[in-house]
Amino acid sequence: MKGVLLAGGTGSRLYPLTRITNKHLLPIYDRPMISYAVEALVKAGITEMMVVTGGTHAGEFLRLLSNGEGHGVDRLCYAYQDRPGGIAEALGLAERFVGDDPVLVMLADNVFGRTIRPTVEAFEQQRTGARIVLAPVEEPEHLRHLGVPELAGDGRVARIVEKPDDPPSSYCVTGVYCYDPTVFSVIATLEPSGRGELEITDVNNHFVEAGAISYDVLDGFWGDAGESIDAYYAVNDHVRRSGANRG
Ligand code: DAU
Repeated sequence: MKGVLLAGGTGSRLYPLTRITNKHLLPIYDRPMISYAVEALVKAGITEMMVVTGGTHAGEFLRLLSNGEGHGVDRLCYAYQDRPGGIAEALGLAERFVGDDPVLVMLADNVFGRTIRPTVEAFEQQRTGARIVLAPVEEPEHLRHLGVPELAGDGRVARIVEKPDDPPSSYCVTGVYCYDPTVFSVIATLEPSGRGELEITDVNNHFVEAGAISYDVLDGFWGDAGESIDAYYAVNDHVRRSGANRG
């Protein structure tokens, strides 16, 4: 399985910190944020990956990660997103890199307490369609800033709503997604959302409608360090106390 780490976007919710650097280069405890995403993939057995970034600090990713050897990566490629056109648009830039392989996509501002290896192994068995990772989230106000699944009576995902006013469950969709290579033909059919982006939630809803999506429910800590300055510090506190990507 190949890996794609998404590290573009504007990081506007962390302004002014992200006026002077890329969000994914900000420190989380003792390392730049993107190091945790690289580590998550390597610990899950994925050692061929592409980093997609954009904006004005793209060169710093090469300085940090180089060819990947110091981070346990066998093959590290880079892509540049000209403008922040959305998560799905950024993933689309990895089409030729991914080829006919299954792919795990990770938003590089997401930090997990435990390894995501069980999801990778489950998707290696599943092989087709999509697989997402849900995390329980108690506060409705928090859910309003995330993608939220509606779960049917039999436990299947009925639909996913991006940043819902009225969250249909108390789970969020985290920033780890597994897809078969047909995902790129799905991206080609997308229209920009109200905020002018190609949305990963629209990609996932395509797989929901095809009855081809499954999910894992997370065990342990999950945080989106780009969500707010408080979330950024909550992730820092957790990593400092307990580490990340533990086996
Ligand atoms: O963190 C989980 C959430 O991530 C999910 O629950 C949502 O369904 C999903 O849409 C996403 O929401 P965010 O509002 O957090 O997405 P954000 O715009 O912050 O982008 C997330 C990452 O994707 C970010 O670390 C950088 C990357 N990105 C984003 C955009 C818009 C790109 O590489 N290019 C882009 O154009």
